[in-house]
Amino acid sequence: MTKKILVASLLLISIISKAQYNNMWIPDTLSGANFNLTIKDTFAQIVNKGNQTITGGINGKFWGPTLFVNKGDEVHMNVTNKLNDSTTIHWHGMHLPAVMDGGPHQIIPPSTTWQPYWTVKNDAATYWYHPHLHEMSMEQITKGIGGLLIVRDAIESSLPLPRTYGIDDIPLVLTDRDFSTSNQFSVVPYGDSMLTNMTLRAQYTIPAQVVRFRILNAAIERSYNIGFSDNRNFQVIASDGGLLNAPVPLTRYLLHAGERVEILVNCSADLGKSIDIKAYNSTLGNFVAGGEAFIAGPFGNALGKKDFNILHLNISSQTNNPIIAIPSALKTNVLLKVADAKITRKLTISDSTGVTKPVILGPNAFILNHKLFNMNAIDYSVPLNNTEIWEITSSSVFGHPFHIHDVEFNIISVNGIAPTAAQSGWKDVVFIPGKTGITSSVVKFIAKFDDFADELHPFMFHCHIALHEDEGMMGQFVVTNTTGINDLKNIEIPISIYPNPTNNTLFIQFNNSQQSAYYITITDALGRTKLMLPKPDLTNGIDISQLNKGVYHISIVENTSKQTVTKTFVVN
Ligand code: C2O
Ligand code: CU
Ligand code: CU
Repeated sequence: MTKKILVASLLLISIISKAQYNNMWIPDTLSGANFNLTIKDTFAQIVNKGNQTITGGINGKFWGPTLFVNKGDEVHMNVTNKLNDSTTIHWHGMHLPAVMDGGPHQIIPPSTTWQPYWTVKNDAATYWYHPHLHEMSMEQITKGIGGLLIVRDAIESSLPLPRTYGIDDIPLVLTDRDFSTSNQFSVVPYGDSMLTNMTLRAQYTIPAQVVRFRILNAAIERSYNIGFSDNRNFQVIASDGGLLNAPVPLTRYLLHAGERVEILVNCSADLGKSIDIKAYNSTLGNFVAGGEAFIAGPFGNALGKKDFNILHLNISSQTNNPIIAIPSALKTNVLLKVADAKITRKLTISDSTGVTKPVILGPNAFILNHKLFNMNAIDYSVPLNNTEIWEITSSSVFGHPFHIHDVEFNIISVNGIAPTAAQSGWKDVVFIPGKTGITSSVVKFIAKFDDFADELHPFMFHCHIALHEDEGMMGQFVVTNTTGINDLKNIEIPISIYPNPTNNTLFIQFNNSQQSAYYITITDALGRTKLMLPKPDLTNGIDISQLNKGVYHISIVENTSKQTVTKTFVVN
């Protein structure tokens, strides 16, 4: 072969090998204090050839915008459901009032706008939002509905870390999907194809410097054992709920469903090279999600117990003012103290044979505390400001990523062993390994339940494998404040609403200044919910400009008594 032909054929090979990749999509961003999120059924060309895939998206074709918020800011969400089904949107990892949390109780019917708001109390880290409708989470997450929520704070902002979104600070939303022959998503626990930011066979160009990846496991079930193809070190800088004390060098990080990790990788010496981020799942144990090699059946998939690519990286020239060194310290975390715990709550995970819905594996599934989730039963009342140890004993053979709403926690031990450095910060998901032989696994974490007492609205705890959660591997707790509760039944709640008729703004006046609104719901004459307003600020009235002409009912739940008053008004 002459040199020319060799060069030409090498070039051809490199074009062909580039062509097998798709450029990775980066979610759009929104920032500020007011966020408009419209959830809708849509479609996207995800598979290169053939039909578009029917998807669910927020403001776009799938997934949703990355929301940037600042610690200390009050943020307002306008969540409009344009799906044909009800849904909910949960702010995973956020410390906020239960009534704003978007769990299975805050159902948003079709054509309804839900307006939660809260003051951001979380530390800088990568959080996310996703549907949480009971028994429908797997289906709605499969459609692609969700998004990232990135909190910034003063400590993180003062560190020399990469933070140019999409350039040296790159979100990676990991999931996998099974496509039908007509390119449609099947609602199954494991997919045959890796999707990184909803892109098949993703590639991305990064600069030859320190690059940050914010990685979310948004899969229905699979865990990803993340590493680089040349086995280089990367530095873990943040877990679910905040920065670690210092970067932790690792070559693998096993990320379970619902978890996030932020890593830095130094590519300063790699100009012109290509490397892959991979899932080294061939090394996973049989009872870690993705470690089983199911060939057929409901769990059959092409990625089980295999190593596969997550992202192909092409390393190109540096940006201006690149970060080229990794800081040696990040933050001083003050962790919760076991001595401050008021109670140890003992939970169990076990196998069950009584599951009715959804039917994937017949009646076999996994349960918490020996029972299936019951929407109407509160499992625990947690006194406000309690510091608690939660001790989860699992006799299940399978490992489960356990998640709790409301709080970030510190892992105390996994089977008696203290967490590794990368797991020693703030977490909201902890992996509960399967039992060893006949010995149950025991995981302990510690959390403080400050703020947000609410007797009415619960927070959830559950397995973050959406299939298990839908099957009923979930429970709920309320945070209670027992000071000053008296019998408030049958008290008078005099309210005036005006003007009536109205068109853009409706004012609501509690004639007793001790009273205020806990929840306001506006429904049209046919009983369809239009607006859901948790704890609305009524000072400037309610914006009803989106309502068409007609008669509406407004139902107002009073805050202290939790009694409901219903009124009628007209939009003209
Ligand atoms: Cu991300 Cu209740 O979950
Ligand atoms: Cu959550
Ligand atoms: Cu599970």
